[in-house]
Amino acid sequence: MKDKYRVVVVGMGKRGMHHAQAFQANPRFEVAGVCEIDPGRLETAAAKLGVAIKGTNAREVAHAARPDVFCFCTLPTIRKEMIQVGVDCGAQLIAMEKPVALTSAEGFEIRRMVESSGVKVVVSHQHRYGEHYKKVHEVIAGGALGHIHTVYGTATGWMMHMLSHLIDYTRWFNGEADAQWVMAQAAGRGKLTDIHPSPDYIAGFVHFANGVHGVYECGAGAPDVPEVDYWWRKCRIGAQGSDGYAEVLTGGGWRAVTKDGAGSGGGCMNYDLDMPPYIQDMADWLDGKKLHPCNFESAYKGFEIMMAFCRSVAQGGQIALPLTSPEDEIQMLRDAVADRKVILSLPSSAKEYPA
Ligand SMILES: NC(=O)c1ccc[n+]([C@@H]2O[C@H](COP(=O)([O-])OP(=O)(O)OC[C@H]3O[C@@H](n4cnc5c(N)ncnc54)[C@H](O)[C@@H]3O)[C@@H](O)[C@H]2O)c1
Repeated sequence: MKDKYRVVVVGMGKRGMHHAQAFQANPRFEVAGVCEIDPGRLETAAAKLGVAIKGTNAREVAHAARPDVFCFCTLPTIRKEMIQVGVDCGAQLIAMEKPVALTSAEGFEIRRMVESSGVKVVVSHQHRYGEHYKKVHEVIAGGALGHIHTVYGTATGWMMHMLSHLIDYTRWFNGEADAQWVMAQAAGRGKLTDIHPSPDYIAGFVHFANGVHGVYECGAGAPDVPEVDYWWRKCRIGAQGSDGYAEVLTGGGWRAVTKDGAGSGGGCMNYDLDMPPYIQDMADWLDGKKLHPCNFESAYKGFEIMMAFCRSVAQGGQIALPLTSPEDEIQMLRDAVADRKVILSLPSSAKEYPA
């Protein structure tokens, strides 16, 4: 256990700055180095954070700064390379953004690297620190819904951005039960060439080992969440049981109906509120006090569900979990998704899914 853990942050875009500032604000961490391929962005970030070790090459920065925590918030195309840098520089913990990987082939490799090195890995599904998310979890875990039979999640944003979040929080609501099989369908090819490659719309079912079913819709055909104005936060995530239901709206609070009556409350996804406890839990895990809730093993199970959805789209029918062989699911989708324009569920999605 150290008084202060040294941190390197790679990728000083939106999420990199969120992470760097939250580490810098926590007395248990100091940002020792930053890396960014855009020189202007690098200089601005290094000056703002007051960090001397900086550069455009992650491996060089990591070896100069010798971090305890290697954090990367780059776009999703270089996950495996960044994990390798984190392992090679001897960090005790790697903090990464979702999604875990873009294909199961890459995911298998990353899992092998993580398991063989023994490095701790945390994946940023930090919405769960929101007061409204925590309240829904509390209602479910406290038994007020009776016997849980269904969990569900919808988001208007596309798969590689949002499905990882929906699956992670519903797995949390469902006691992190393992999934046994999935079945899914997809429509629209527009986002297959995006940096977060995805079908425009994907919908599917998950059967969990505890008998609970998961129902998910992500993208252009997902339902509106009219209670929420901000498009990216039109996400509805919840659980139904024998005695009622509880759900969180990412941009609009929570509500529950239980056998004791109805309740609701506020809360909105907010990086400024969600990042500090997410970062503090890294210190607690490094100190050996507790496992981080967003640990890799848990996130990987959610990632596998997402990859199995893609396989079901391409191959049809049910896909058993865990996955046993690597595939390139993005290529499978490119080969399989019909060349027909996706049909939108709400007009405000037209700017993200143009004709
Ligand atoms: N957890 C969340 O709530 C959440 C929210 C938004 C985005 N994300 C995820 O965070 C990741 C980053 O998203 P963002 O919105 O911050 O993107 P961004 O484009 O704002 O930032 C990415 C940065 O990485 C830099 N970069 C790319 N390759 C690099 C390399 N090899 N070395 C150093 N720097 C490199 C880019 O120049 C850019 O500045 C994505 O995976 C995204 O899915 C998560």
